[in-house]
Amino acid sequence: MRHTPLTRRRLLALSGAGAASLTLPFPRPALAQAKPIKVGVMLPYSGTYTQLGEAITRGMELYIKQQGGTLAGRAIDFIKVDDESEPPKAPELATKLISGEKVDVLIGTVHSGVAMGMAKIAREAGTTMLIPNAGVNALTRALCAKNLFRTSFGNSQVGLATGKAALAAGIKTAVTFTWKYAAGDESVGGFAESFKAGGGQVLKDITVPFPNVEFQSALAEIASLKPDAVYSFFAGGGAAKFIKDYAAAKLNEHIQLWGPGFLTDGVEQAVGAAGDGVKTVLHYADDLDNPENKALRLAFEAAYKTPADVYGVQGFDTAQLLDMGLKAVGGDIAKQDAFHDAMAKASWKSPRGPFKLSSSHNPIQNFYLRELKGGKNVLLKTAATDLEDPTTGCKLAS
Ligand code: PHB
Repeated sequence: MRHTPLTRRRLLALSGAGAASLTLPFPRPALAQAKPIKVGVMLPYSGTYTQLGEAITRGMELYIKQQGGTLAGRAIDFIKVDDESEPPKAPELATKLISGEKVDVLIGTVHSGVAMGMAKIAREAGTTMLIPNAGVNALTRALCAKNLFRTSFGNSQVGLATGKAALAAGIKTAVTFTWKYAAGDESVGGFAESFKAGGGQVLKDITVPFPNVEFQSALAEIASLKPDAVYSFFAGGGAAKFIKDYAAAKLNEHIQLWGPGFLTDGVEQAVGAAGDGVKTVLHYADDLDNPENKALRLAFEAAYKTPADVYGVQGFDTAQLLDMGLKAVGGDIAKQDAFHDAMAKASWKSPRGPFKLSSSHNPIQNFYLRELKGGKNVLLKTAATDLEDPTTGCKLAS
């Protein structure tokens, strides 16, 4: 893999507040060959989701490195831009990568609102876009497209699996508390759908604006509502702060804290004992007993001196999907239809378990119930197998 060195001026021109060019020194192949595939990578390298963006980047780079630095014989040039998790900046940044840098593929991002802005531009230009995290439902429902692929999850998909698991654990009443934007709303929507369908009662929905971390008034309200459990979508720095505040307010002593696994992934060490007992459901668990997961965790830790988490796995699988598409066309990305068809049909053994895409290009995958104990997300059981998000409104046939 090669990285186009971006000058500081070019970086600033791309991102306003600066972009990240985290380079890996892969040697250039000695033989003359086709020029590199240009990949525009838009991820958060600043703000509350920084750690998520970095983990995704590392997962992608690890996969490419394991292939010897090329995919289907083509060197990969990453052009990285910090999207700052700021939706208003997304269309301009995506336009600069697509029209300015003329990238072959656009990869991004973490934040649902930013992903919506990117997808609009990618759709207009017909550029292939791979989503390594953002779960906004519409992108694999009514706004699905033949050139748009998601390797992560749909926001409702995770919430729905969590609502079922909470019911099965005997939770009867819940208060939801989340950031007010698509990811929080849809995550809570999925949770409420399955939780209520099974007889659960949602006492109140509480929100704070993204990326606000002032949780005190919500915590006081939760204490007075006395639900069996709280269901919360927060992630990254915000999640770490929330878990610590929840424990400091002593709510963890009598109200179970539940959430999609984003609440605890990557923040296990930061929250320490404050996180003990937090129950989450996710399409990944650290101790999944399969060879792909064991190999990934060893390689990730060796390369980066930090444990892999769901974001690293999603990055790894994003690069893997790209690899499968490129291999099917012998590295000739100009064969767009065949490239897209191959990715749509791809399936493999991911560290998360079996992976394949639905007809709207969203993963069909297992979900796992985990409990945070002693700084580890311990796998309790498989909560759902081969769970597919509805493809409502998607007109793709494949
Ligand atoms: C999203 O905005 O879709 C999102 C962000 C962070 C997560 C999960 C989903 O951990």
